[in-house]
Amino acid sequence: MGGRALETSTAKKKTKIPQNGTVVETKSGFKYEYSPAPESKSIVKIKPRYELFINGRFTKPIAGKYFKTINPSTGEPLSEVAEAGANDVDLAVKAARNAYDKTWSKISAKDRGRYLYRIARILQERAREFAVLESLDNGKPIKESRDVDIPLAAAHFFYHAGWTDKLNYAFPGAKISALGVAGQVIPWNFPLLMAAWKIAPSLATGNTVVLKPAETTPLTALLLCEIFQQAELPDGVVNIITGAGATGASLVSHGDVNKVAFTGSTEVGKKIASAIAGTNKRITLELGGKSANIVFEDAALDQAVEGVVQGIFFNQGHVCCAGSRALVEESISEVFIKKLKRRMQQLRIGDPLDKNTDIGAINSFEQLEKIKELVEVGKSEGDFFEPNTRLPSKGYFHKPCFFNNVSAAATISRVEVFGPVLSVQTFRTPQEAITKANDTPYGLAAGIWSEKGSKVHEVASKLKAGVVWANTYNKFDPTAPFGGYYESGFGREGGIHGLSAYLEIK
Ligand code: NAI
Ligand code: MG
Repeated sequence: MGGRALETSTAKKKTKIPQNGTVVETKSGFKYEYSPAPESKSIVKIKPRYELFINGRFTKPIAGKYFKTINPSTGEPLSEVAEAGANDVDLAVKAARNAYDKTWSKISAKDRGRYLYRIARILQERAREFAVLESLDNGKPIKESRDVDIPLAAAHFFYHAGWTDKLNYAFPGAKISALGVAGQVIPWNFPLLMAAWKIAPSLATGNTVVLKPAETTPLTALLLCEIFQQAELPDGVVNIITGAGATGASLVSHGDVNKVAFTGSTEVGKKIASAIAGTNKRITLELGGKSANIVFEDAALDQAVEGVVQGIFFNQGHVCCAGSRALVEESISEVFIKKLKRRMQQLRIGDPLDKNTDIGAINSFEQLEKIKELVEVGKSEGDFFEPNTRLPSKGYFHKPCFFNNVSAAATISRVEVFGPVLSVQTFRTPQEAITKANDTPYGLAAGIWSEKGSKVHEVASKLKAGVVWANTYNKFDPTAPFGGYYESGFGREGGIHGLSAYLEIK
């Protein structure tokens, strides 16, 4: 750690909190600051303008419209990106249909696997480039894009490459076939990873794809198109069209799309479900959450605090399964809060490209405004805490914060903030913890912190959540199905369950 000592607490000088930095104080009162450790941007060549990727080629949008994508850590534009209209969407769906009919449904399963392996390997080779671009366009810390997003995206392609010629073993005795063209719409919180979650299972099961990335984070999906070209993936098998909600709406309602996969807000998920009701399109929806992290008095407390911190502040809280509610056993709540505050004081907020940064930029101005509004509401509902870290003067940043002693009915306990904002409640018995954890319109994930295995199993079996982690949080693996209950959506992604969403199984 390349630290720079500031002073010790015995010195009389007042500690100057550095701009865009965090002063860390050790137990004995020694204070230091991290030296800047920025990752170089030079590995990525950002083009001034990006076109649509249709039928294997970069294609200008018919109406000639473009929109800007911004670096949220500065608020400055990074590049401009084509806006696909209904005509462009139609061309992309036609290209996907043609590729399905003429090439992708004709080649062997083994060959499909070869393409997926190729894509996975090239993605690994170019991982650093993708990590830097993801952090620039999304605002997430480089240590996350480098260590989480990009390796997991590659892992999804590797995992699904292995399935292509083994689908009959996955569904023994059944007659299986691909669905055709998948129309996929993804959000901005894990741009490349969500693209991989959608594209890899589609290709493995023999479907072709038209995918729309989020309007604030289109660049890594467009860079992935270069990998498709490098891997010589047949033209039209994957098409990437950029644009905002209107582009997404024309994609999911296109008459020649057989399968719709969406990740994003519950509000848009409902719109999509009603837009395609009455058609024979298959659909999976991956929506929001208000997931509980339950900390029992017998938990390893420091690990639990770390797990709660990672669970909500990781990726600026832009995580559908973020542990945004901590439920803490009353007997340990005081010491838990003390440790939580101390740990939050050490979190480093700032330049996403700095390798020491824990919390990067909020993805957009709109999202930052939404977070600020909800935090204001929360201030009348619970005891507010935020560390005294200073935020960078430019860009969209928000301090990590929590509300203690909030009621289950409080807005801050019920509404998805999608930012680094935690609400804390206490409980006295395991039953009360289960009731409180399940008291939400969502049901995506939950965490349990306890050293007692029997308690973990008992509580986990009663939680209405698609994923339950024990003594860890936010761990993902391509082999494990992911998805929610209630307003968190339906269908599963990953594992065998995820394959079935892209197959006709008779
Ligand atoms: P959003 O749901 O509007 O955006 C997600 C994707 O859907 C984007 O690609 C967008 O262009 C597209 N889209 C928007 N309207 C559409 C429509 N009518 N038909 C088809 N596609 C459409 O999410 P937004 O506005 O960016 O964020 C709002 C809130 O949603 C956040 O504050 C957060 O609470 C939640 N959210 C949840 C996510 C999750 O992973 N569960 C991801 C992103 C946002
Ligand atoms: Mg952007």
